[in-house]
Amino acid sequence: MSVSEEFIRELKYKNNISDVVSGYIDLKQKGKNLAGICPFHIEKTASFFIYPSNESFYCFGCGKGGDVITFIRLIEKLDYVESLKFLCQRSNMNFPEDELSNDSYKQKMAIYKINRESAKFFHNNLCSLQGKSALEYLKKRNLSLKSIKHFGLGYSLESKFSLVNFLSSKGYFQKDIIDSNVAYKNRSGQIIDRFSNRIMFPIIDIRGNVVGFGGRSISNNNPKYLNTADTIVFKKSDNIFAMNFAKNSNLKNLILTEGYMDTISLHQMGFTNTIATLGTALTPGQVKLISRYTDEIILCFDSDAAGQKATLRAIDIFKQNGISSKVILIPSGKDPDEFIKYYKDESAVRFKELIKNAAADIEYKLLNIKTKYDINDAGDKIKYTSEILKILSNIENDIEKDIYCGKLSTELNISKESIKSQLSKYFKKISKNKNKENILPHTLGYYAKDNQDFSLKRIKAEETILTYIINNYDITDNILPKVSENLFGVNFNKKLYSALKTLILNNRDLNLNNILSEGFEVESAGRITKIICDYKREYINKQVIKECILLIEHENQRAKIKDIQDINSAELKNYIITLKKTKQ
Ligand code: UTP
Ligand code: MN
Repeated sequence: MSVSEEFIRELKYKNNISDVVSGYIDLKQKGKNLAGICPFHIEKTASFFIYPSNESFYCFGCGKGGDVITFIRLIEKLDYVESLKFLCQRSNMNFPEDELSNDSYKQKMAIYKINRESAKFFHNNLCSLQGKSALEYLKKRNLSLKSIKHFGLGYSLESKFSLVNFLSSKGYFQKDIIDSNVAYKNRSGQIIDRFSNRIMFPIIDIRGNVVGFGGRSISNNNPKYLNTADTIVFKKSDNIFAMNFAKNSNLKNLILTEGYMDTISLHQMGFTNTIATLGTALTPGQVKLISRYTDEIILCFDSDAAGQKATLRAIDIFKQNGISSKVILIPSGKDPDEFIKYYKDESAVRFKELIKNAAADIEYKLLNIKTKYDINDAGDKIKYTSEILKILSNIENDIEKDIYCGKLSTELNISKESIKSQLSKYFKKISKNKNKENILPHTLGYYAKDNQDFSLKRIKAEETILTYIINNYDITDNILPKVSENLFGVNFNKKLYSALKTLILNNRDLNLNNILSEGFEVESAGRITKIICDYKREYINKQVIKECILLIEHENQRAKIKDIQDINSAELKNYIITLKKTKQ
């Protein structure tokens, strides 16, 4: 029988793997993970590990591994369905004979509908008599009617019951209205609109669903912006404003701003590749979403201190994920929206100029350091040089490095040679640390001894690609075209990749149960878990994957050349004779 993926997720959530396992053996914290004596083989020292971040276990002694369901299968000697029932009982869940899974699907659909109806309601308010001052406010902020329509902007009335009454009259259930967070229940049990007297910005996901709202006060009410709280269809930290439009802009990069207004103003000026975070510091979820669409981001945050700090942080996060950044510096402390308002008709041309002159990430960092020191002061000069060298030592391109050393030499009146020699000292220190770190999880490449044909490096590269795919399900449509089954040399990896591909193409989760159902025995759970259990998001990024693919392709190429060399001269003669014969 097949059960829904939502049910499996819920079941795993309610049956935390550490809790379940600690019912059988003693576990001790070891860093982020837990360790204990393996219940599946006899041992004295603990080689059984729980990886909470991956909800998995793996024993280095006997190679058994899997998720909480596999654990129950193995330890209670139950089959798959019996294990599910066992865990249901443990966590007081009903086993889904049928509907359970459908219910949460239905609720999601109801919330999408409520959000859409609310957006329409807000928009109609804005176009009505009651929305007159709100519309005037937007006009004062230079938004055209076309932009207002395009983004579906709206207005929430002052009355605190208007939306609730409207939705109820349309037959929506109170529970769903509250769960969609457009309204809430107050202490005396009344259901009240969440947003009142605010300009409403619908937040639309990449599939076109209205998932939430941002509401800007127009009456000095605090907070200035109120957003939808997290619901079952909306997680603020995973969403980006205007991505639904920007993803279709067909431009090679995206412009990231801080605010709704900045983004809408820029779209209005023709920069339809603009997006905004939703008032949060940039999150991994947002970076992941962005990385689906571009390798290059133009950062355009406010020019205040907070904005600049956020810029420096964003540069590093993007870099770790294989996205390069450029930074737009808006003169005289303005945010993009203010800039556009200030320069009126000239603003599009001027903003294009700003994009053209955007500083590369390194340049921006260097400028930023410069503002901190007075280079005429000897003490400052040393500190300044040392900070700069730290940044330059991260540049991989030698020519680029040389250019910056030259610039620094002129600027500080220090010989280029002494700057370069100092830089190479830094570089040595860094590469030493990097090697020590060994960025790939230590669990990869464990089965190398069964595959003498391939180098350990190559096996690790194959497994890195696989763990990346499994742990980044939502960007797999980007990876699949770049990887083919033939890339994998180790048969097990090849088979695992085909299984993942099938699941992805059928829109199914890449959880262990689904993977196993693609023709693996339960014994393979350990080997698969081994590949995914120690996944390190902070180290394995797009760039690393690119390098892995290159490394494998390179090895495949070399193997081909070797095949040809291996043919001895007699064979070669025969080969040529047959070739000639076929030609005749
Ligand atoms: P800003 O205060 O810079 O807003 O916050 P802004 O976009 O320039 O707004 P205007 O021009 O005054 O209308 C930037 C972003 O931070 C989030 C919002 O997403 C906003 O667009 N924010 C800000 C909140 O979520 N809550 C707040 O109270 C303030
Ligand atoms: Mn602003």
